[in-house]
Amino acid sequence: MAIENLKQLYIAELKDLYDANEQANATVEKLIDAASCSDLQDALKRSIEGTKEGNAAIKSILDSHGEGVGNATCKGMKGLTKEAEEHVLDEEFGDDSVRDAMLISQYQRMAHYAITGYGTVEAFAKRLGDFENAATLEECKEKTMEGDLRFTKLAHASINEKAMAA
Ligand SMILES: [Fe+2]
Repeated sequence: MAIENLKQLYIAELKDLYDANEQANATVEKLIDAASCSDLQDALKRSIEGTKEGNAAIKSILDSHGEGVGNATCKGMKGLTKEAEEHVLDEEFGDDSVRDAMLISQYQRMAHYAITGYGTVEAFAKRLGDFENAATLEECKEKTMEGDLRFTKLAHASINEKAMAA
């Protein structure tokens, strides 16, 4: 079915983002066991909770428009999760800290994809006058950005240095 207007595009993008979040969480779940640094494991666990909250918000926004979450498959996130799993879980590393550094690089690709997804639906919501939901989506975007920053800080504070010394 053709997407005729911004409202329909908004709904389609919400459904795509919902699926992207589900896929990301399934992969992040696997990454927790691969992380050797406990702070990194904690950041991954917090990320899963944040993504679950984000999807609960998306679900209620779709509901407010009389829509379900649908069954979209986000191909972008499919590629990113596949890449993350291959690089972190299948590759061999001489030291756990190097794997941790790889994990952060892969995690952040997925996080940034989600951030752009939230930014897009937030902009559509504002243009459509769906202001309450726009505020919720902005909050989701900001929480995802804050989560992403935790990974940047971990990389700068210790993990990259350990990986360099390995
Ligand atoms: Fe997508």
